[in-house]
Amino acid sequence: MSTKKRIYAKEIYHFHMNDPQISKDRNPEVISLEGIRIKQMKDEAQQDPNQFWSNCARNLVWFKEWQQVLDWKYPFAKWFCEGKLNAAYNCLDKHLTTNKKNQAAIIWEGEDGETVTITYDQLFRRVNQLANAFKKMGIKKGDRITIYLPMIPELPISMLACARIGAIHSVIFSGFSSQSIIDRVNDAKSKIIITADGGYRRGKIVPLKRIVDDAIKHTSSIEKIIVVKRTHENIIMGEKDIWYENAVNRESSFCPSEWMESNDPLFILYTSGTTGKPKGVVHGTGGYLTHLYNSAKWVFNFNATDVFFCTADIGWVTGHSYIVYAPLMHGVTEVLYEGAPDFPNPDRYWKIVEKHGATILYTTPTALRSYMRYGNEIPNSYDLSSLRLLGTVGEPINPEVWKWYFNVIGKNRCPIIDTWWQTETGGIMISMCPGIESIKMKPGSGTLSLPGIEIEIVDDKGIKIEDGKKGYLTIKKPWPGMLISLWNNNERYKKTYWERVDNSFFAGDFAYQDNDKYIWILGRADDILKVAGHRLGTIELESAFVSHPSIAEAAVTSKSDEIKGETIIAFLVLRKGIASSQNLDTEVNEHIKRTIGPIASAEKIYFVDKLPKTRSGKIMRRLLKSIVNKETIGDISTLEDEASIEEITQELNAINKQL
Ligand code: WTA
Repeated sequence: MSTKKRIYAKEIYHFHMNDPQISKDRNPEVISLEGIRIKQMKDEAQQDPNQFWSNCARNLVWFKEWQQVLDWKYPFAKWFCEGKLNAAYNCLDKHLTTNKKNQAAIIWEGEDGETVTITYDQLFRRVNQLANAFKKMGIKKGDRITIYLPMIPELPISMLACARIGAIHSVIFSGFSSQSIIDRVNDAKSKIIITADGGYRRGKIVPLKRIVDDAIKHTSSIEKIIVVKRTHENIIMGEKDIWYENAVNRESSFCPSEWMESNDPLFILYTSGTTGKPKGVVHGTGGYLTHLYNSAKWVFNFNATDVFFCTADIGWVTGHSYIVYAPLMHGVTEVLYEGAPDFPNPDRYWKIVEKHGATILYTTPTALRSYMRYGNEIPNSYDLSSLRLLGTVGEPINPEVWKWYFNVIGKNRCPIIDTWWQTETGGIMISMCPGIESIKMKPGSGTLSLPGIEIEIVDDKGIKIEDGKKGYLTIKKPWPGMLISLWNNNERYKKTYWERVDNSFFAGDFAYQDNDKYIWILGRADDILKVAGHRLGTIELESAFVSHPSIAEAAVTSKSDEIKGETIIAFLVLRKGIASSQNLDTEVNEHIKRTIGPIASAEKIYFVDKLPKTRSGKIMRRLLKSIVNKETIGDISTLEDEASIEEITQELNAINKQL
């Protein structure tokens, strides 16, 4: 990108984007790919949403056109009814007749620095071979396949192979442990699991196949386990097991695409909610892909020379949407990195940007905060001049970190997109849209909602509140990327998202709007934690604590943390006759890591005699949170027994003194 004009005014940053693309014979004020200003697009979306979303959907390849844009039977939406398409076709086949055919789709970098480049044509063939292998194993449209893989090319290949034949993929983050696999496989009744012998994490090997073997003893639906060779561990191959390479190597490299109805599920992605069991968020095909294609065009403004580096793990929604589906539909080259940001040194992302000439970096505030701690010298020693756009996602970004990202990484010339969205929304909902128009940026605000997306901040009763006041973030109208439901649980879907506020989607976040209508996200308003950007449910964590034989009761809350945003703090009541000790502390934490995964380990465990509860027996986590964060404690008149709060406060005071 050539010269960009920047007007710096206090906390406000203003960009003129895409200068080279300004058409001189059009209105020179209009700075965009297609000469459409954001306001005009928003008006169009408001006046005729069906026409607006139809135009968006036409960016995809459809085998058969839809009959109806939206069939909205509150709270269930069907998008592009009776339209037929295939996600893998949109990511792969459509590029084969263009000059993208031999372009790199994925540049994979292993944790050890090994690099493999896969072109669109090669990716197409590998996906088709696996799709044929699935068919041979008896997999049919609508069957579920669980994918438990590290960040290696076989992960997106497996997802696309499922999409090709209409199987529904359920990817489990490879940092999760056996209980997470048990819950998810049993809920989805998956027939196949694809895993690897092991995965690398900071030079150590995670025994993925062994974790799967432990888990499937508690499941009954799995017929086959496909195992990718990654670490060359000595593993035991049982009757149901087949090596990935043996499954695919004789398969044809063409498998016809299944014609999927637009509302057929593409995948289930389990995510934490406010109960013990994770929710199976189901995304459809046509609506989801329409949202992704267009949001990526508006926000990332992908072009033919982009090298896109999204640092998310595909086990989370960011990876599904903006590593697999959106960039591949756009035919960009993307970097897929296997390992940790600080391995072997705290420079890995910068090294990758320089080595592969990344033009867009899309990462998390947690990663930025941890890099920032190491100072400017490290990033300054790399050539980051290929970057043209910087993005963040997953948690609120502190203004200081935003400015560091802008100054040190972007060298004051790359705009920052702070993108707000959720597993449930499918794609980005709030962000600056450099692909449409330049607007002023404010460090810490996601700016405005995307065209066609109507956000409202409301009070407890669902009434719109005035600007500047904190309230709940809601979405007023259905949008194409919205989840179609929760797997096998329409009731929970309705209750969780659509019954808190009449006729609006309840996102579960606190937010406010400033005088410019810019939206500022203030964090979760429910029992969901964001630990290093990873979404975890307090109740899910509590159940894991209580599954340890020494623990009778558990309450989990979080403490703000400079690097991770939030860390887990657990208050545990021991069973009668069990004494607290440092050993028990370590043992309980090990138990949590084994049950949920290393990301769920507690920063601090407090053994207490009682937990603060309401008169009806609900644990008052809000109160615990205030105590650990040293905030003023609100109304405690509904407490069952105020003494327990006293005890906890005293206990905490005593512990604080010891520190
Ligand atoms: C939080 C991740 C502030 C928010 C894509 C949301 C953010 C939850 C941002 C969803 C952002 C996501 N600023 N907070 N830019 N983006 N969040 O489902 O609390 O893993 O509700 O999806 O992350 O997390 P999830």
